[in-house]
Amino acid sequence: MSAVLEVKELSKRFGGLLATNNVSFTTERGEIVGVIGPNGAGKSTLFNLITGTIKPSSGRVSFYGEDITGCTPEQAAQRGLIRTFQSATVFKEKTVRDNLRIGMQFNRLGRPFQLLDRARVKEFRSDAGRMATELLDFAGLEAYADRPAGDLPYGAQKILGVAMALATEPKQLLMDEPAAGLNPVETESMGHLIQKIRLERQIDVVLVEHDMAMVTSICDRIVVINRGEIITIGTPEEIQRHPEVIEAYLGVDLEFD
Ligand SMILES: Nc1ncnc2c1ncn2[C@@H]1O[C@H](COP(=O)(O)OP(=O)(O)O)[C@@H](O)[C@H]1O
Ligand SMILES: [Mg+2]
Repeated sequence: MSAVLEVKELSKRFGGLLATNNVSFTTERGEIVGVIGPNGAGKSTLFNLITGTIKPSSGRVSFYGEDITGCTPEQAAQRGLIRTFQSATVFKEKTVRDNLRIGMQFNRLGRPFQLLDRARVKEFRSDAGRMATELLDFAGLEAYADRPAGDLPYGAQKILGVAMALATEPKQLLMDEPAAGLNPVETESMGHLIQKIRLERQIDVVLVEHDMAMVTSICDRIVVINRGEIITIGTPEEIQRHPEVIEAYLGVDLEFD
């Protein structure tokens, strides 16, 4: 097995706060890796550093052996590393199908000069239409295809956000709290979708999640962080037995007073 994502001694300082403190971990091909920790632990910051939304104070990020430290999100996306956000980020006025076409555009029409090539634009339009139809089916959104995305229930909007990320044809998908704001039924659908992404599309997933049940049911390995630092990395069974994880994550002190 070889590393897909390699995070090495990554740190980020915001003024006096070390939001990310010397974080190192790797993901392997075929894995779903979870990142958990209490609110404010530094989970979103870690994702922002990996995908280039913010620059690290020190440390390195590699993707398939290539150093991508300091890349912009667009440059990371072009290499096949894409992220979804904690809140649903769709174009609310556009139809669901058009949202998916727009998602594909990020990857395929990245360079402006290609827009001048009529043959390429025509080819792109037909590919985008085909891919949108295929993704509507994959994500179970056919019933909403021609409705404005803003009319969809929140859970379906978040599913659409994931499908848009898939439209960029990533190698690895980083998902920030895919279950946040979802009801239990929507959370279960999201969990199934993530497993299908791995099984049917062979796309690796790293997911930040506050919902412990979701993480332990779908992840192969879990990275636990608190106050910007890694507490432990292990299988769901291993981390659930870890006393520091129980205390930090659940916020309970196991000693009686
Ligand atoms: N841009 C920023 N400027 C200053 N502080 C920030 C910034 N982004 C995050 N933080 C701080 O970094 C810490 C970690 O935040 P975050 O990564 O959002 O945590 P999580 O996603 O685990 O809830 C928090 O204390 C937060 O207030
Ligand atoms: Mg967060």
